[in-house]
Amino acid sequence: MNADATPQALDIVIFGGTGDLAFRKLLPALYMAHLHDRLPASTRIVGIGRQAWGRDAYLRFIEEKSVEFIESEAWSQADWQRFMARLDYVDLDVTQAAAYGKLQQALSPDALRVFYLATAPDLFAQICAQLHVIGLVDDHARVVVEKPLGTDLASARAINAEIARYFREDQIYRIDHYLGKETVQNLMVLRFGNAIFEPLWRAPSIRGVQITVAEAVGVGSRAGFYDGAGALRDMVQNHLLQLLCIVAMEPPISLNPDDVRDEKLKVLRSLRTMDLADIKRDTVRGQYSAGVSEGAAVPGYLQEADVPAHSQTETFVALRAHIDNARWANVPFFLRTGKRLQKRQSEIIIEFTEQPFSIFGKSPSLQPNRLIISLQPEESIQLAMMVKEPGSGMNLHPVRLSLDLQETSSKRRADAYERLLMDVIKGRLTHFMRRDELEAAWRWIDPILAGWQTLDEKPRHYAAGSWGPAASSALMARENLTWFEES
Ligand code: BG6
Repeated sequence: MNADATPQALDIVIFGGTGDLAFRKLLPALYMAHLHDRLPASTRIVGIGRQAWGRDAYLRFIEEKSVEFIESEAWSQADWQRFMARLDYVDLDVTQAAAYGKLQQALSPDALRVFYLATAPDLFAQICAQLHVIGLVDDHARVVVEKPLGTDLASARAINAEIARYFREDQIYRIDHYLGKETVQNLMVLRFGNAIFEPLWRAPSIRGVQITVAEAVGVGSRAGFYDGAGALRDMVQNHLLQLLCIVAMEPPISLNPDDVRDEKLKVLRSLRTMDLADIKRDTVRGQYSAGVSEGAAVPGYLQEADVPAHSQTETFVALRAHIDNARWANVPFFLRTGKRLQKRQSEIIIEFTEQPFSIFGKSPSLQPNRLIISLQPEESIQLAMMVKEPGSGMNLHPVRLSLDLQETSSKRRADAYERLLMDVIKGRLTHFMRRDELEAAWRWIDPILAGWQTLDEKPRHYAAGSWGPAASSALMARENLTWFEES
């Protein structure tokens, strides 16, 4: 199958077809692709689940669960019915080799096959092995693997090695949905499509970089998974480090997957490994306690369903990272993520260095230039600058040059999963993680996890609805900086 060609016939098989990811993200994304005629005409989608359901029961379940995750303007019963005509269900216990025959019968022999593994990662190896045994892994097959890919470097390596026994690297799509977000992809265009930024995009012109992925939601019904993971594994190892890579990488020689991924890998390899002293000084673990979130009283993490009474899992992380290369020497990168923070807000702030000398004296309004790249809830790029306040004096006034990305084009903006699923169908690997990249990210995370254990670093409590533990502000204050929402 040629890369970047839309196949004629396509079978998408979703393992974990009755799970959260399937009905919240994957099927709504596929519905949108269907609605906008982006799916090949003969696309079929096969959900795999353990429930002994027939096709009708599955369709009813999906309709009931997925509808709320589809924008209301995009929903129509008639279109949904046409979409559902593409859907099938195979009940299959993936741990039983004998059961896979059913799947073989349900698929077309000549179609491109996309296997989406949205199950627990400890099932990945078995599933790949069985697909191989029944002859479904050939040049027409691609596999998409969801995070978490492992819980540390050793387990990630083991999973990667198992998948690699059956699929070539160019058939493996390790998904990080942050790489599918419009603004994240736009960041590459901003950096490499505009000449003005490149000379300034480095030390010493940049004083510091902040990357925040704040969520207002709590752990919800996911404690079973989340309590064993925590925010460092769930968010920093993947989403935040991927954002850091895109901010920090050198211009790739082309947009070909390996050229982009080579550059991201170099960034990950340049991250300074933290020793115990660094971990103690430069990382903050937090856990939310009861508070008020978006106007409503909410319980603390320990009171959430299925969370063990004395859990020490972190729901918040802030840390200072360093990239030891020529471009970024001595520029701190501050990463922060947490659940039950004051609001949903994901952004990247590039803070430029101050004027070496100000002819305006010590004006209290004088602020550094900042590039503010907002990912969510709104997508925008703003450049904070100083202008003169109207009037007779030479008073300074901060303003923002603002690029509202919604307004720059009337084109529909697909959501991250739709965009990435279309990339899989078209064979485009650029926005997926390569094996060595994923392993390099774990190599940097592992010592932090181990250090927290050695230091017996307990999470600091923060009230739900706040911006996290006070120690997170202190981390910035040491550098004479503040988190952006505090400035
Ligand atoms: C997932 C994490 O990868 O990303 C979740 O497992 C988190 O815990 C989610 O809520 C956040 O994604 P988004 O796109 O809503 O910012």
